[in-house]
Parts: sequence; C-alpha cells; structure tokens
Amino acid sequence: MTSSSRPLVAVTGGAGFIGSHTVDLLIARGCRVVVLDDFSTGKRANLARWADSGRFGLAGAEPSLDVLTVDVSHGVFAALAPVTAAYGAIERIVHLAAQVSVVHSIANPLTDLRVNYGGTLQVLEYARATGVKKVVFASSAAVYGDVTAFPVDEDVACHPLSPYGAHKLASEHALHYYSAVHGVQTTALRFFNVYGPRQDPSSPYSGVISIFADRAAGGRELTIFGDGEQSRDFVYVGDVVRAVVGAALGDGADRASINVGTGTEITVKELAQTIVDVTGGTSTIRHAEARPGEILRSVARVERAERLLGFRAETRLRDGLAATLQGA
Ligand code: NAD
Ligand code: UD1
Repeated sequence: MTSSSRPLVAVTGGAGFIGSHTVDLLIARGCRVVVLDDFSTGKRANLARWADSGRFGLAGAEPSLDVLTVDVSHGVFAALAPVTAAYGAIERIVHLAAQVSVVHSIANPLTDLRVNYGGTLQVLEYARATGVKKVVFASSAAVYGDVTAFPVDEDVACHPLSPYGAHKLASEHALHYYSAVHGVQTTALRFFNVYGPRQDPSSPYSGVISIFADRAAGGRELTIFGDGEQSRDFVYVGDVVRAVVGAALGDGADRASINVGTGTEITVKELAQTIVDVTGGTSTIRHAEARPGEILRSVARVERAERLLGFRAETRLRDGLAATLQGA
C-alpha cells in the first residue's frame, strides 16, 4: 500500500455536472479523488483536465484522480476494494450519483427507488463497514413539495410531489440513522436549482437554464411549461461546490439537512426573457402544457448554511449566465 497525507475522497457521480466541478475543487484543495460513475449521464470529457495526472500510482509523483465505472446501486464494495488495498481507506464520500430528473421519476418510480434510495444505502453501508469519517449527500429542494411559507426553512414539514423528492427525503432519513446508530458523520445538502458550465442540455429533462441557454445561443425558440409564473432559486455551480467541499472536508454539520440556494427567486418567464436578452434577443418564447408534479414556488432560506458551513452563494444570475454561455 502507498502512503500519502492527502485525504482520499470518493465522489459518486463525479463525471457529471456538479460532480466534475466537485472533483476540480477537491483536487485544488489537495485531495486524491476516486470517482464512481456509471456514465449514464456523466462524461469522461468532464474530467479530461485531470487525465495527465494518471491513475493513482501509475503516472506522476502525486496522481490525483482514479475513475471507476460502477453502478452505485450495487457495485460499490467490489469496485473500491482494489483501490483501498493499494492506497488506503476512503476517508470521506461525496454522494452525488443519482437519476436526476423529477419527470423521469414520475414515469419510472422503481428505477428512481433503486438508484436514488438504493444507491444511498449502498454508500452508507460501505461507510459503516469501512469507517468512512463523513458522507455528504446531494439532496434536493424537491423534498419540500407543496410548502406555503417562503423562503423555505429546513424545519418545515416535507411533502414531496414526486418519487425523486420522496427518495431524496428517504435518503436523508437513512443518513440520520447511520449517524445516530453507526456513528458515520453525515450531512445532507438540499440543492436548489443548480446551473453552470457542463450542465448537459441534450435531454428534454435537462436543467432549464442549460436548455434555454443552448437554444437561445442558437436563436431557437424557447418553450415554457405552463404560464411561466412558477419560480425557482437558481444557484451557480461554482458556489454549490464550495458548500459541498466545505461540508465534506470539515467535521461539523453532522446529521444536518442544509439548503444550498441563493435566497432569491425568479419566475421561469423572467428567466426566459433574461436569457433571450443576454444572448442578443432573436429567440421567440412559446408556452406548452404545465408539467405534472410541478413545484410552483421554490426559494431557499439560507441562514443555516451560513451558520453551519460559513457558506453564502455569491454569483449573481447574470454573471452565472455569462459563464454558462461561455462554457468551462
Ligand atoms: P448529472 O446527471 O450531471 O450527474 C449525475 C451523475 O451520476 C452522472 O455522472 C451519472 O452518470 C451518475 N450516475 C447516475 N446513476 C448512476 C448509478 N446508478 N451509478 C453510478 N453513477 C450514476 O446531474 P447533476 O445535476 O450533476 O446532479 C448531481 C446530484 O445533485 C444528483 O444527486 C442530483 O439529484 C442532485 N441535485 C441536482 C440539482 C440540479 O439542479 N442540478 C438540484 C438538486 C439536487
Ligand atoms: C431541478 C433539478 C432536480 C432538483 C430540483 C431542485 C434538473 C434537471 N432537475 O428540478 O434534480 O432536485 O431542481 O429544485 O436539474 N421548464 C420550462 N421549459 C423547459 C424546461 C423546464 O419551462 O424547457 C420549467 C419547468 O417546468 C420548471 C422549471 O423550468 O418549472 C425548472 O425545471 P427543471 O430545470 O427541469 O428543474 P426542476 O424540475 O425544478
């Protein structure tokens, strides 16, 4: 086994949008990172900047990244065994791998259960069995469902409107009891609507900013589902990963569920118009039928993130949109 003072961190879903930005920041902060991903939506290109750092032990004096192709809903123990035999125990896990579409979860609830709840249990079982210090989980504002008081406080009763939200909430409960019963430190971060470079616009279920930015940049029509009065709290990925990495490398915030948003909201209609303006204004906007299970209003209360993680989102929407359109 090789020894290193650099923390060994596993990132599930590390080839995805938020995952690859998380990997970038962890490596920048001096960690060695093992990515577990099945590449269902993630891409090797998102990690290409680290290709020259080589697999652990195979290239360079201090390689930074190893990438394992694995389905987290069943292969975690077997996939990590050779890595830990060679390089030591995984110290911290950032669990981001998931089926990410609310709409897809309504059509395929059992797939969502297997990947999103089953995947979390696999990761927690691995953490319990091998003595991982901290697990940080990507939860979602979708756990809240229909709430009536805004900005949304973490302590409000959750009534998710989709299998996706329900399985994220069930995963949070599992995090809680793995901490209480087994002593694994856990933190759930409830991301609001994350956007930024590398978010894939190619599916109809992709994040709305990636779709609108892609279409507006090509002068194509934007489609708003419903009247466009539904609102979201859009938070830039560069901000989100500061919260993720802070929670993963720190030892506080055990058993906490924490909103990660900006505290400001914008309607989908205003968003569409802003994106058309920023891109030069040739796209038209049409409306189509509202989505089932749609949350009508979403905006985060942000004080808990400030108190427990010292985190505050800093990127203004127009700056984040400019960075998204530029790509990175
Ligand atoms: P993404 O699709 O880019 O990333 C998900 C990653 O997980 C991909 O790399 C995919 O290949 C991988 N994956 C999927 N199923 C897997 C499996 N069974 N085994 C191994 N890997 C698997 O999406 P993202 O936006 O980066 O989402 C990351 C996390 O953040 C997810 O848990 C998502 O639910 C959560 N989240 C995202 C948002 C958002 O606005 N983007 C908001 C709230 C929560
Ligand atoms: C998103 C995330 C989900 C996360 C949740 C947290 C994605 C794909 N989904 O769900 O993982 O848990 O935030 O709040 O990132 N819309 C249009 N036109 C389009 C696409 C979307 O009008 O072409 C509308 C939708 O109807 C919705 C809003 O834009 O009202 C946002 O949609 P979307 O980006 O898919 O995100 P959420 O459903 O909020």
